[in-house]
Amino acid sequence: MSLANFLQQLDRLEAEAASTLGEVADSEALETARVRFMGAKKGLLKDIQKLLGSVEVADKPAAGKRLNEVKGAIQTAFDEAKQRLDSGTTERQGPQPDPTLPGTPLRLGHLHPVTQTIEHLKEIMGRMGFTTAEGPEVEDPWHNFVALNIPEDHPARDPLDNFYLATAGATSGLEGSRLMRSQTSTVQIRVMETTPPPVRIISLGRVYRPDAPDATHFPMFHQMEGLYVATDVTMANLKTVLRIFANNYLGGDVEIRFRPSFFPFTEPSVEVDFLWNDNWIEFGGAGMVDPAVLASVGYDPESVSGFAFGLGVERLCMRRHGITDIRDLFSGDLRFLKQF
Ligand code: PHE
Repeated sequence: MSLANFLQQLDRLEAEAASTLGEVADSEALETARVRFMGAKKGLLKDIQKLLGSVEVADKPAAGKRLNEVKGAIQTAFDEAKQRLDSGTTERQGPQPDPTLPGTPLRLGHLHPVTQTIEHLKEIMGRMGFTTAEGPEVEDPWHNFVALNIPEDHPARDPLDNFYLATAGATSGLEGSRLMRSQTSTVQIRVMETTPPPVRIISLGRVYRPDAPDATHFPMFHQMEGLYVATDVTMANLKTVLRIFANNYLGGDVEIRFRPSFFPFTEPSVEVDFLWNDNWIEFGGAGMVDPAVLASVGYDPESVSGFAFGLGVERLCMRRHGITDIRDLFSGDLRFLKQF
């Protein structure tokens, strides 16, 4: 055998023994390692020692010297491992941790600004006696349209204006189809279907519309729906509630404007604008619940009346915090989100 080959085998053995003995965790493993490397009959050291005979005579002194070194190194590694196990510690080798150093600061997360806004809105409306109701984001046409007085041929139902879901087994057209709700007014219906009047609820959640994103639009956003049905509820109650709400949420005496408008499920209907930097900005829609809607859920339009409103949560959040681009809220950019 060549000297180089012999030395290479010794190197490998030394490395393997060092790593094995450095890691043994109990006396059983230590004994296994001892037999494997240092065993008198079948140990790996013994095997290599036997090969010494086949090394060139001239190379023997160098080979023997290295063999003895490796023997010694393995013995030392063995002694250290034994000592480590005997002293009962499995402490790691090398530099010990310094307990006097300052710790790594924890990076605490916090609620997303939109979630914070939702909590804030619930609190303000809760003080006016509105409890929170919830409804599903995947809706059927009954709750998103029909019960809200939006007939089959109404442009609001256009497939291009909604996220319809492909439905297995759907027979024709949009029949039996489902969609991502385009408004939280669906929850008005769900609440009235299951609760006799009076009802006074808000509902906060996501709605979906295939709008191209820009500074004030995003295909998913949140709405706060409000519904108050009882005897003798009037438009004056609606305006008072919205004004108290706006003053509480935005602070001070916020100017609020009702603009005549149309929604199939309210009559009369208004757009609700708040003054923002000398501009009237639309925050949502509102109106008196249409008698046809009250009838569709089995309420008696002769004995109860109500108002409903739907406000954009992101716009409220943006107005309060001076955020100018809705896309920042959904960018996932922590540098932006950490500010709130
Ligand atoms: N659902 C309407 C929208 O999304 C807003 C609205 C809610 C209007 C309640 C009237 C009453 O545009």
